[in-house]
Amino acid sequence: MGLLGFIEKKRDGGILSRKEITDLVHQVTDPKAPEYQIGALLMAVYLRGLSSDETIYLTEAMIESGDKIDLSDVPGIKVDKHSTGGVGDKTSLVLMPLLASMGIPAGKLSGRGLGHTGGTLDKLDVFTGIRTNLSPHAFARQMKAIGIAIGGQTDDLVPADQILYKYRNLTGTVGSIPLIASSIMSKKIAAGADCILLDVKVGSGSTLPGLSEARELAKQMISIGSTFGIPTRAVLSDMSTPLGRAIGNKLEVAEAVKTLRGQGPADLTELCLTLACEMVSMAGDDRQPKEIRSELYRKIDSGKALNKLIQMVDYQAGDTTIINNIDNETFISYSEDVVAGNTGYIEQIDALQIGKSSVHLGAGRQHKDDQIDLDAGIYLHKKPGEKVTKGESLLTLYTSDQSRIEKAKSYAERAISFSDTRPDIRPLILETGETSG
Ligand code: URA
Repeated sequence: MGLLGFIEKKRDGGILSRKEITDLVHQVTDPKAPEYQIGALLMAVYLRGLSSDETIYLTEAMIESGDKIDLSDVPGIKVDKHSTGGVGDKTSLVLMPLLASMGIPAGKLSGRGLGHTGGTLDKLDVFTGIRTNLSPHAFARQMKAIGIAIGGQTDDLVPADQILYKYRNLTGTVGSIPLIASSIMSKKIAAGADCILLDVKVGSGSTLPGLSEARELAKQMISIGSTFGIPTRAVLSDMSTPLGRAIGNKLEVAEAVKTLRGQGPADLTELCLTLACEMVSMAGDDRQPKEIRSELYRKIDSGKALNKLIQMVDYQAGDTTIINNIDNETFISYSEDVVAGNTGYIEQIDALQIGKSSVHLGAGRQHKDDQIDLDAGIYLHKKPGEKVTKGESLLTLYTSDQSRIEKAKSYAERAISFSDTRPDIRPLILETGETSG
């Protein structure tokens, strides 16, 4: 069957067989595949959905479309982590060194930011000269040598996903749950993970804002993991407000370093410890979570966790000076504060509006090829539930292009709502999903 046949079958609600999905993925990865047919196919899938079997077959065919990373030479159970993304999410920069300091192999392929969602590779660029285009061989060698590596996805890893993701972005079909599930899981499985922990975000700053959609996504990813024999767990965490106080690449690196020193914001610290506990237990540590937590704190207090970040940046040829100078770092040319118009409490700081504001300041990309201003971003002096006095600074906007301030400020002002009384704060960890595999 050709692409037209697949489009028509899916359009009419048909179910594709394993062989048909394998053929379809072959045809989509052929450079001669007409773009309009790939777009039409994605829309048919978006509207009709995929059965659980079709989702598994798609994941399998995407994995088989390219190279896989072989981590069998790296001793220990390799637990990979994926966050569905959001605003101020610098968790990987804290979590991976923390795990490595516990002796757990911590390797991760990360992406770049797009739209209001940030990406770990952009944050790593703050370490001048850092190499993130690690070949599968270099990635595995580094994991074996120092127990930690963060790299970018190479062109040869799940190329079918790279093609489909590009057209999903252009055809309004990013939000399809089976397409997201197969896209994420194919990359994690091809990257050689033994176990996978998923941080599925819920709230305005995430790809799927609703709780029921996030639950469904987690369920589908756990089921894919189970079919491939890879134990998979999911944590559902809040992304209705930015994570931590820093948004923007250099600001976020500074916050991650402080968190690794034990001086991070409460929400970021809590999320990192929760995820780290899950990952340590998935790696085979059968101690009670309380005991694992105490050891994680010891790794932070002793400086061992931070040393792992320094070791990784250094190994990947990045300049580590900023890590030791973080308290004296200066943030560039233009800054402006948003101040409280009322006395009372911060009720909400909307992650999506803050994300849009930071993109406008230059911290993120509107389009895939946009240049990032690493110094641009937002620092939240206040978080939801905190008391404010009229005239007090709520947040500071940073950019190297003054003309960007006005519009960014209007997004940021729109993000904040006030309350006369202390508001209830949404819990950070909403749910923890079951293990499978
Ligand atoms: N991240 C991915 O890797 N794929 C998606 O489809 C969405 C987010």
